[in-house]
Order: sequence, then C-alpha cells, then structure tokens
Amino acid sequence: MNRIERTKELVGILEREHTLSDDAFYELLDILEETGESGAVRSVQIRGAIPAAVCTPEEAVLYAAARKVREQYYGKDVYLRGLIEFTNYCRNDCRYCGIRRSNGKAERYRLSDEQILRCCEQGYALGFRTFVLQGGEDMYYTDERICGIVRAIREKYPDCAITLSIGEKSRESYLAYKEAGADRYLLRQETSNPDHYRYLHPAELSIENRKRCLQDLKEIGYQVGCGIMVGSPGQTREHILQDLRYMQDFGPQMIGIGPFIPHKDTPFADEKPGSLYDTLHLLAIIRLMLPGVLLPATTALGTIHPAGRELGLLAGANVIMPNISPGDVRGKYLLYDGKICTDDEAAACGRCIDLRIRKAGYITAMSRGDCAGFDTAHE
Ligand code: 5AD
Repeated sequence: MNRIERTKELVGILEREHTLSDDAFYELLDILEETGESGAVRSVQIRGAIPAAVCTPEEAVLYAAARKVREQYYGKDVYLRGLIEFTNYCRNDCRYCGIRRSNGKAERYRLSDEQILRCCEQGYALGFRTFVLQGGEDMYYTDERICGIVRAIREKYPDCAITLSIGEKSRESYLAYKEAGADRYLLRQETSNPDHYRYLHPAELSIENRKRCLQDLKEIGYQVGCGIMVGSPGQTREHILQDLRYMQDFGPQMIGIGPFIPHKDTPFADEKPGSLYDTLHLLAIIRLMLPGVLLPATTALGTIHPAGRELGLLAGANVIMPNISPGDVRGKYLLYDGKICTDDEAAACGRCIDLRIRKAGYITAMSRGDCAGFDTAHE
C-alpha cells in the first residue's frame, strides 16, 4: 500500500475510533514527518487566501479530517478569549520559562484590580465574552485578592466566562475561586512523563501534584484545560504518546499546545525550538482523538511562523486568545523570545485577528464559547 493510502486508512481509524494503537500512532507520525521533510513538496493548497497554507498530500488528508470533525462540533466559528496577563512575578523556576524566579533580567509588574477591570471593560466593548486571567504563581495575589477580582468581574459581566490560569493551588483555593464565579481553569501538564517533567522543572514541582491539581479542578466542576509544549528539550515521541493517552484518559474541555521557543535568559537558551509542522500534526491528531475539545491556535504558534495561527485553524484548532493586557506591560510578559503582538493595542489586535480568521475561511464568534456538550446549567 502506498503512503497516501495508508495515511487515509490510519486517519480513518482515528476519526472513527478516536484512538490508534501505539504502533499505528508512531507509523502515522513517521509518515507525516518523512513526507514533510524529505519531499519538501508542500504543494497542496489548503485554502486559497493564505500563501503559506501548503502541505504534503498526507498532511492534507489529516487536516481535512480534523477540519471536518471540528466543523461538525463548532461549525465555522472561532471563539475568542481576551487574555489578561496580570502579573509576571513567579515563585517557580521552570527551566523553559522567561518569567522564572531566577531570571533577574525580567522586568516585573503587577496589575491592580482597577487595571484588570479596565481591561475587561475595554475587552467587553470589543466583543469579548471570555476573560482569561493568566499570571505567574505570585503570592501577592492571595486567595482573597483573586476571589475579589473574580467576584468583581462576575458582577459586572454576568454574561461572560471567567478563566483562571494561575498555576498550582490547593483544592480549597480552587473551590473558593469557583464559588467566587470562575468557570474555567487552564493548567498545562507540560509533560506526563515523570522523568521528563523533572528535567523541565525545579525539584519542588512534580507531575503527581500537577495531576492532582487537574483532577481537583475537574471534580470541582471547572471546564479544564491541560496541554503541552511541542518539542520541549528532551521530549521524545514516547512522551508525546504518553501525553495523548493522559489527555484521552483525563478528558479535558480544552487542550493548549504550542511549540517550545527558547528564551535567552533561561537554561534552555540554546535549545532548538519546536517545529511548526510537528505542532500542526499534533493539533489535528488531538482534534480527531477528542473531537469536541476546545483547541487554541496559540500565540507561540503565531510566533514561530507568520501564518502559524491560521495554519493552526486549518489543522483543527477553533480558539484564539488575543492579548488585551495594557499596552505598557505587554512587552514584559515574555515566556519566550520573539513573542508577537507586544506592540499592539487591544482594538488593533482584535481587527488583525478577525482578518486572519476570515482569511482561513472561518468566522469570529463573539460568544462565551463553551465546550460542546459541557453542561453549564449548574454554574
Ligand atoms: N516556549 C513555549 N511555551 C512556553 N510556555 C512557557 N514557557 C514557554 C516557552 N519557552 C508555556 C507553558 C505554560 C504556558 C502558559 O506557556 O506551556 O503552561
């Protein structure tokens, strides 16, 4: 059987059964990698408007299946999230991350409650109906402060979803945020392999506790997002498979994946970045494995390639998270080098994103954008 026929077969199984055997999974990855690299024949046009949207015939089969499934669940809608990066102080020392504790060169900042609420106000006026509060693990923001911020947003914007992305906390803290009005929580596992986890993180952090957090969040009733970096130092395809199995098992509502990108003031400064194509392959595979999942085309993907996010949408992603942080702090929340959109204002960002979404053949949806099938009636 030739490669394209075999790809169709493997993608067909993935689409019908939402899983593959280990061997079949590695075979699919091999095919995608080989055809991508050796041939350099990314000549299949996915959609006219994006010049870079060319792929191998094998990738075209995979991406078409992923788009079909995403359209069954979400139509042509792309959900937007207004991202507020409210602090870059962090008590952790993750080796890949630019805002790690021991990076003395990072210029630290915190937003006040008023500044955060102003972001929401601006964001709301621009049409955002989800606010994501993301920050380092900054102990200045006690549970009381976080709950106060969440309550204030909840009161002012009852029709919006509130997402937190503030790291590892106790079950009690997660409960308190939920009661204050938070709906969703993003916490990537980064890697489910314990050895790889230890390689990426300081000794105080463990995959066991990360998984405990994710489990607590799920039990409390959050819509939960997990995820990984693609091509992080030391990552093997065995690790990736382990992550896919973990995600399948855990059943998150969201999965955030983007390429690893080195940051010059971290121990991984000289490591090579994750690849655009590996990330796109994985996005499409995740879409087929967890068909109804919310899948962002991340800022990191847009950073490694000018059309990265559009290509992400064409590979099955259905969410984009524009930055709505105040202009003067954007250039300071630098997890990796070269981050895009650090000079824009929120309004300009919105227009640019809308254009990109339309170029990819999709529609900007200004709704809360909950996960298909997630029951929000009891929130
Ligand atoms: N490259 C890409 N992604 C990164 N993140 C942190 N540092 C980097 C980096 N150097 C990701 C992590 C984290 C998310 C907020 O950003 O996966 O969970």
